[in-house]
Amino acid sequence: MSENPATPATDAPAANAPEAEAPAAGSPASPARRAVSQETDAPAARSLGSTAVSAATPRRGEPMFPDGTGPAADPAGSHHERRIRSFQPRRSRVSPTQADALRRLWPTWGLDIDGLSRIDLDAFFDGLPVVLEIGFGMGEATAQMAAADPDTGILGCDVHTPGQGNLLGLAERNGLSNIRVANGDAIILLREMLAPASLAGLRVYFPDPWPKKRHHKRRLIQPEFLALATTRLAPGALVHCATDWEPYAEQMLDVLSAEPTLENLHPGYAPRPDFRPLTKFEGQGLDKGHVVHDLLFRRRDT
Ligand SMILES: C[S@@+](CC[C@H](N)C(=O)[O-])C[C@H]1O[C@@H](n2cnc3c(N)ncnc32)[C@H](O)[C@@H]1O
Repeated sequence: MSENPATPATDAPAANAPEAEAPAAGSPASPARRAVSQETDAPAARSLGSTAVSAATPRRGEPMFPDGTGPAADPAGSHHERRIRSFQPRRSRVSPTQADALRRLWPTWGLDIDGLSRIDLDAFFDGLPVVLEIGFGMGEATAQMAAADPDTGILGCDVHTPGQGNLLGLAERNGLSNIRVANGDAIILLREMLAPASLAGLRVYFPDPWPKKRHHKRRLIQPEFLALATTRLAPGALVHCATDWEPYAEQMLDVLSAEPTLENLHPGYAPRPDFRPLTKFEGQGLDKGHVVHDLLFRRRDT
């Protein structure tokens, strides 16, 4: 996998390059505090009001949201560590609309993955069962799934700031109160911030395939990752993965099948379930003639 939860990186220097951005000067309230305050006010009612913002591409060393009202550049300070990660830290241009959504909605719906405290998911999601989606990209499929199933909370996790702004904007425009956005590395979220058996599901759609052999260790779906992730799943929780990269699909099937706490709901790959919308990366894969595989596994009861 791209990041082994426990093993320090020994190579791949480029991929372990430190984040270019400095951490934000102030950090938002702790997840637990915000999760508790979530109980009292409706998210929309507590938005901060529109702030005039220009397109935000900070210069090297400058935080994108220096006032702490947006996602922090590197919330867990992991630029100090040498670890193999499943993502490439990159500086992306945030559009004015995305920056505006982040400034207004992040304090209520956003969560920096700082690894410092446990999240009270019940409070953060007003008692809804919660599914974790790792790597939502621009979030269009996430928003569609949230709209189709308002009784399930979706905790979307990604490091991609424009996508975080886009998803928050989609949630607001579509009146979706069951989406929260986590900023940072999903491994730290799972390891440090989510309680055992707290998730009703896990979704990983079109994770970075890392096709070069020397990069295979960066792939997210690896035995160590699953050993960690499954401890955070409640009995009966669904693990749903999809990829258009055939060798990664085979790896996923091998790794998921070998995890003793999971059972495959199908003899091999699953038929594409109706509830998964087309994602952006899936569309790109289909345009190239790739075949898409879904995998559906269930967390065993014991
Ligand atoms: C190839 S994109 C797929 C996006 C989307 N699911 C789709 O199908 O269009 C993979 C996404 O996973 C995110 N990602 C990779 N590793 C991650 C990690 N450890 N924690 C959080 N996000 C991660 C990347 O930033 C990227 O946005």
